[in-house]
Amino acid sequence: MSIKEIKASELDPEKFIDEKIEEISKTVGEGFGISALSGGVDSSTVTILGHKALGTKLKVYFIDNGIMRQGEAENIISTFGSLGVTVERINAQEKFFSALKGIVDPEKKREAITQTFYKDVFADILRESNARYLLQGTILTDVEETVAGIKRQHNVFEQLGINPEEAFGYRIVEPLIQLRKDGVRIIAKSLGLPESIYNRPPFPGPALAARVIGEVTPERVEIVRKATEIVEEELENTGAFQYMAILHNDRVTGIIEGKRNFGLQIEIRCWDSLDARVATPTNLPYDILSKISKRITSEIDNVVSVTYNISCKPPSTMEAV
Ligand code: XMP
Repeated sequence: MSIKEIKASELDPEKFIDEKIEEISKTVGEGFGISALSGGVDSSTVTILGHKALGTKLKVYFIDNGIMRQGEAENIISTFGSLGVTVERINAQEKFFSALKGIVDPEKKREAITQTFYKDVFADILRESNARYLLQGTILTDVEETVAGIKRQHNVFEQLGINPEEAFGYRIVEPLIQLRKDGVRIIAKSLGLPESIYNRPPFPGPALAARVIGEVTPERVEIVRKATEIVEEELENTGAFQYMAILHNDRVTGIIEGKRNFGLQIEIRCWDSLDARVATPTNLPYDILSKISKRITSEIDNVVSVTYNISCKPPSTMEAV
């Protein structure tokens, strides 16, 4: 199936919103739909479109998979509460960590997360709520990278020949599939979402697991979660497209309190990009990099090395996994 792109420059937000509300409401009909809200701009936009189309026939869930950022569930539930959308939190931490146990290969890690979301967690929710439709914020870049074999994005099925209804027992509705990130931001703003959401840097479906090289354990996620919080605090006003901290698997010799420590390495990435297809590292002032390094090595136990990525995409990709 070829998807006709709608470029941000060609987008008529009101027309797009009206069409998608009508499409969602026709597709779901008298039934129920669910939206799995992660708090990113894509799933937030789909949730509001779904809420406008279906009202109380849309149930919205935040899946607490244990690999999200600090305070994420609370922030999202309260932001959407003030927009009149009730979000239910589902604790699925054990399911995700047991699926990820022992996996180091990046694509196997992505596959484990996909299967846990779609086969395990969403299938249970849809069964219990009597819903037949999952609304999700797949965008064109997700489809292209998956089909091109660059990275298996967590939310792409039909374009890989997988029928979600046969594989998982429910249908998937993808109102944003013709857009790229810049187009989604325009729609999000038109829908009245707050700037903290429509201008939010992207965050991947596999969450912090995309930023842990090697095995994803609760302890290793906690390290990258703390580093992410520091990086986001220090870089939020740079205007960069996306910024992140990555925990490496290799250790290096360092010195902590005068003693040798075979310690952890954190890599910082900060990207300038329009739509994530290509990206260049942001030319950050050295003072900012130096402050991030000092904070990470002093605030996180056993980190002895912080590096800044200076490679472009391609040949790099934006996330490490
Ligand atoms: P890469 O690492 O492929 O990332 O250069 C490009 C953009 O996509 C985001 N990303 C994902 N988004 N599901 C998503 O919804 C995924 O599985 C996924 N993997 C990467 C990434 O954060 C960047 O903005």
